[in-house]
Amino acid sequence: SSNQMWGGRFAAGPDAIMEAINASIGFDKRMAAQDIAGSRAHAAMLGATGILEPSDVEAIREGLLTVLSEIEGGTFAFSTALEDIHMNVEARLKEIIGEPAGRLHTGRSRNDQVATDFKLWVRDQLDAAEAGLLALMKALVAQAEAGADWVMPGFTHLQTAQPVTWGHHMMAYVEMFARDLSRVRDARARMNESPLGAAALAGTGFAIDRHMTAEALGFDRPSANSLDAVSDRDFALEFLGAASICAMHLSRFAEELVIWSSAQFRFVVLSDRFSTGSSIMPQKKNPDAAELIRAKVGRIFGAQTALMMVMKGLPLAYSKDMQEDKEQVFDAADNWMLALAAMEGMVRDMTANREALEAAAGAGFSTATDLADWLVRELGLPFRDAHHVTGSLVAKAEAKGCDLPDLSLAEMQSVHDGITEAVYGVLGVHNSVASRMSYGGTAPARVREQVARWKEILG
Ligand code: ARG
Repeated sequence: SSNQMWGGRFAAGPDAIMEAINASIGFDKRMAAQDIAGSRAHAAMLGATGILEPSDVEAIREGLLTVLSEIEGGTFAFSTALEDIHMNVEARLKEIIGEPAGRLHTGRSRNDQVATDFKLWVRDQLDAAEAGLLALMKALVAQAEAGADWVMPGFTHLQTAQPVTWGHHMMAYVEMFARDLSRVRDARARMNESPLGAAALAGTGFAIDRHMTAEALGFDRPSANSLDAVSDRDFALEFLGAASICAMHLSRFAEELVIWSSAQFRFVVLSDRFSTGSSIMPQKKNPDAAELIRAKVGRIFGAQTALMMVMKGLPLAYSKDMQEDKEQVFDAADNWMLALAAMEGMVRDMTANREALEAAAGAGFSTATDLADWLVRELGLPFRDAHHVTGSLVAKAEAKGCDLPDLSLAEMQSVHDGITEAVYGVLGVHNSVASRMSYGGTAPARVREQVARWKEILG
């Protein structure tokens, strides 16, 4: 049979394959609450502007609430023949309230309806991402506060570079996630214009009040151009962009946790709650959550690429291609929220191995720069000369198989006779980090300032 929504000009119903490729109800049912909220706002506005009779508006309002409770209660029968969430809801409304249901779509199209629903859905996810990021940042700050003065190796090229503090390393991620948060907030502010009332593409001849529906749905204003309102999905791309960058940050941190929890590093112990075992090797405790977080950026960035490709060639206004926006965003959102929550749990539960961090901090001649700086400061050597002298001392220590502080004063003086006993004072890793007092540096005092500032912001 032909379609009850647009069957007027059709003699035959769709082929089964047509129905299969066309239907979006399998996934867009996730926007049911948003669809009903949008319809309620639209109906109320149609009443307020006198376009619909109050009795019809009241019937629609009550009917929509019934539909919502059926969906929430799991008793709603979704139909593929009805294509999408919009037509499923409207068809059920008609079953419940009869004729007034047919008046709901006055001055509206599925094109502005779907843009509105999807925006409301993405907006909720931006709010969820904000909450997830804030929770993660708090967990990191707690780790940083506990270990503000614990020393560990800082790396470049994953080779020992200079000692840093555990707190400093944790706070580095707080800064990254704070920028992710600001991207989330920017995206939310920019997207918060209502497409509702743009109708199919050109606006409508009915004297609707788009400001009223915009306000009812928590938008800052109606979008200014009806063609733009129904044909762009840049808000979804921005969501995916913010998600991708954040997922990249999560992935880098996850990679560090994988390395740090290995028997070779032993920098951290992950809790049992966020680890798995091996079915064959009894000793194993695997950082699976970290590995999966590391991988999530692939599908999230993949979603952004996919939607970008969907959009890039579309002429204005709506094309059905745009129905492909939702699965990408749904999948990316689910996995972003999960990755944020898993990372927060791991960080909250993990135990830093202070002794292992400190032992590693001094290895690999990590205070060589401090030695060179000392030669500059105390002996007045030009930095390049100091660099050379220190390099010779490192070579000497390496040949002896010892660390820089293990060289005797005589051995030091054989390289440069101006060196005194006082040099040993800068070779310790604690001295090294304590001296890094430049703004933003790794000195425990600076780390405590960062911690205090973020505790204030995060509450
Ligand atoms: N299911 C559609 C989508 O997701 C809704 C809009 C359909 N509009 C139309 N004119 N076919 O984009």
